[in-house]
Parts: sequence; structure tokens; C-alpha cells
Amino acid sequence: MMHSLRTARLLPRLAVSARCLSSSPDYMNYETWHRDNYQQHGSQPLNSHHAINGNHPPSIQDKQTELPRTSVLMELSDRVGALHDVLKYYWKYDVNITRIESRPVTSNKFDFFVDFHGRVGDANVNALLMALKGMTDKLLVLDEKEVHWFPRHISELDLIANRTLDAGTDLQSDHPGFNDVEYRNRRALLAEQAMKYRMGMELPSTEYSEDEVKTWGVVWDKMEGLLEKYACKEYKKSMNLMKKHCGYSRHQIPQLSTISSFLQLQTSFRLRPVAGLISSRDFLNGLAFRTFFCTQYIRHPSMPLYTPEPDICHELLGHVPMFADRDFCDFSQEIGLASLGASDEDILKLARCYWHSVEFGLCREDGVNKAYGAGLLSSFGELEYACKPRSDDEVPSIGSDGHPTCPQIKPWDPNVAAMQDFPITTYQPVYFLAESLQDAKVKMRKYCEELPRPFFALYNAQMESVHIDRPVRRCVGVPDSSS
Ligand SMILES: [Fe+2]
Repeated sequence: MMHSLRTARLLPRLAVSARCLSSSPDYMNYETWHRDNYQQHGSQPLNSHHAINGNHPPSIQDKQTELPRTSVLMELSDRVGALHDVLKYYWKYDVNITRIESRPVTSNKFDFFVDFHGRVGDANVNALLMALKGMTDKLLVLDEKEVHWFPRHISELDLIANRTLDAGTDLQSDHPGFNDVEYRNRRALLAEQAMKYRMGMELPSTEYSEDEVKTWGVVWDKMEGLLEKYACKEYKKSMNLMKKHCGYSRHQIPQLSTISSFLQLQTSFRLRPVAGLISSRDFLNGLAFRTFFCTQYIRHPSMPLYTPEPDICHELLGHVPMFADRDFCDFSQEIGLASLGASDEDILKLARCYWHSVEFGLCREDGVNKAYGAGLLSSFGELEYACKPRSDDEVPSIGSDGHPTCPQIKPWDPNVAAMQDFPITTYQPVYFLAESLQDAKVKMRKYCEELPRPFFALYNAQMESVHIDRPVRRCVGVPDSSS
């Protein structure tokens, strides 16, 4: 057995059906088979990835992912040369292998997952399968997994950017601007501008009115001192850069185009206009492409320190400076990549992780709790509530304003955060505290790797596309191409 193939990466737990071509007597469902074979033998996650197509340049890889592919699982007994004897049939029948991974089943048996170009029914593929049947202890042809639609290229974000939720662009009756016709017209204009945007266009510039800049200035003044006190060091460093390079000041609302160009140079992140709220799935999918969907409207001037939905103050003061930090960008992209094609259940888990970190995360800094979540960094009341030092024996209770008097702080653990529900109209009762942004990223990556995903996705920054390690069909929730 080739030693290098013993150290293949942990395989995704595929929820696929399988046709059994071996001498095994019964039709087998892959998941059942997987559980019986791997879990009962207690096989360990393995360490590195061996992919035969790893030496192709990215452009060729991307074209290859669009070709028809077949996946098989071969079980082989461990003996010197066993894999070599099998692989020579791929060469004999001119079948191009695109990926191969191995995993021990028992002390003397290994499973090999092999992807190759071609379909069952092609003459050379049929001949190969017949040959393999006689060479392997077990042979399964794995059917393509059907998954929720997801963008494969950054340009496909155009297909989801305008899928705003019902309440995403229409103001609700309790919105401070509901009865203000002028405000509603302004919101509609900015929404239309965002809806017209397509990838590759120049980002639209917005001329903000005197009143809008005044509202921004009120928020700025209220936040400035608190951010100095409670924001994490990464935020403060980036904010200084933003003031220098992106026109951040209390006297003007910076333009998305200036910020996006700056972020692309710093961290390859970018902003993309959006008309209003979009679903968690669509929003997280954007992060996979290092793209942040960003609103442009501002809250109603009657309540400058309150907004019922994300607005430009929340986006530019809360989120944007953090996107100038590479660790934070990588962290955000991890969640995004895991969201591609994920089940609704896993989207919910990832959305909760996102909420408890990118929106309301805390991190430790010289023994003090600091904020890195945008929901905190753009909310003067909650920032202080979450970060102010308190004694260890302080017990949370409900205060006269209806908020808990102090929050519960838990160590950052995505497994726990993924199950932690959250309110959206009150302060958070629970915050998650990471040791550092690096610690937050490492734990999030581990969580995403262990999630039972239909495939693993890698982002190719040069091609602005994702490469996935399994053939899948994107057939659930396909967007309307005319949107
Ligand atoms: Fe946000």
C-alpha cells in the first residue's frame, strides 16, 4: 500500500446514495454503510490531502470541475502494490483521475475514494468498472449529491444580491421613518441604485444630504470615545487607516467605492451594495467570495442612535474596519465557504456562529474584554453593557429598562454558539469571548471542517471562483436568472 495515501484528509460525510457493484449481497445506502464501516471501527480523522489534480494550474482545474465526473469507493486489502495494481486500469482505459483519498477501515483494509472524468455508460468507464469489480473487495459508484444552489463564481452573486426579504426594503409600521414620505423616497432611490448594480461595474457613489451627514455625525460623536475604550486593537488600528485613506470623519459619510478599493488592497475583501436584508444563506454565501453585502441608506434622523435594521452607520462603523484585518477576513470567509450548498439546518448553525462572532463577538486583550463584533461596535449602549468590567460574582437580573443588568460571557466555542439562539431587538443575554481573533479563526475553521458538509470548497482568488472536491448538482433554490 502506498504510504502517502494513508495520510489523506478527513473525508466529508457524504449524504449520497450508492449503487453496490461488489459481491456484497445487499443494496446499501452510503450513510448507513459509512456509519457501520467507519464509526464502529473508530477510524481517526487523517491529516493531509492528496489530490492527483493538485498540480494543474487553477484555470484548468476550474474548467475540469464542469466536466461530467463520477465518484467511486474502492475497498482494498492492505498489501504491497495493491493500489498500484488497481490504478493501472485507470491508465489502461484512459480514465482521468481528478481526486483520490484514502482512509483505513480496519487494520488490514483501506477505502479509497476516487473521482474521475466520465460517466457510467461511457465505454471506457464501463470497462474500468468491470475490471475494478474483480480487483477490489468492494466497489461502490457514488451518485451525485443534490445540494442547495450556491454561487460558483463571484459574478453569480448578482443572482442572489437582489433577493431581499419581504421586510428587507419595505419599512414596517413601527419604523421611525414609516410616515416620512421624503425618507421613504430616499430609501427607495438608494435601493434602486443597489438593485441595478452588477459585478464588474463601478460601485455607485452616493451624495448624502446635510441631514444625513448630521445623523452620521451624531453617531460618530457618541461612538468615538467608547470605541477608543472598548474596541479591540485590530479595529482601532484599521480605523486609523480608514481615517487616513478612506475619508472617515464625523463630517462626511465615506463612499463604498473608496473603502472597497482600499480593502481589496489590504485583505482582498470588497463591498457590494445591497438594497436591504437578504437571507442568511445568501449573505453568508457572499462571504465565501470575500464580499460583504453593504447597505447605503442611513437611519431616520428622528432617532439617530437607534436603527431597527443594518444601515450605513452599522456597516461602516461596525463592520468595515474589521475587514481591513486579515485574520478577521479569513475567519469570515471560513463561515462563508461552509455555507455553500449547506443544508438549512447547517445554515442556521453557521448563522448563529456568525451572529455570536462577526456581529457580537468579544475577544480578550491584556486580560480585558474588547469588542470585535459589528453589532457592538456600532451600538453605544450595548458596547458598554458588553465590555465594561464587572465583578465575578455579579449575577444577571432584569433592570428597569427591560435589559438584563449584565450579560453572561461564555468562552468562544462554535459548537456551543451554533446552538445558542439570540434576540434581535434587545441586548444579547450571552456573549462569546475568544482568546484572540486568531483563536476565533482556528476554532471556527475546525468547526467548519467537522461539519457534515456535502463537499469541501476552496476559494481561488485569481479566478474569483470556488473549487469543490465533489461532483454535485445545484438544484435546490435555484435563483431566477432574470433577477
Ligand atoms: Fe451587521
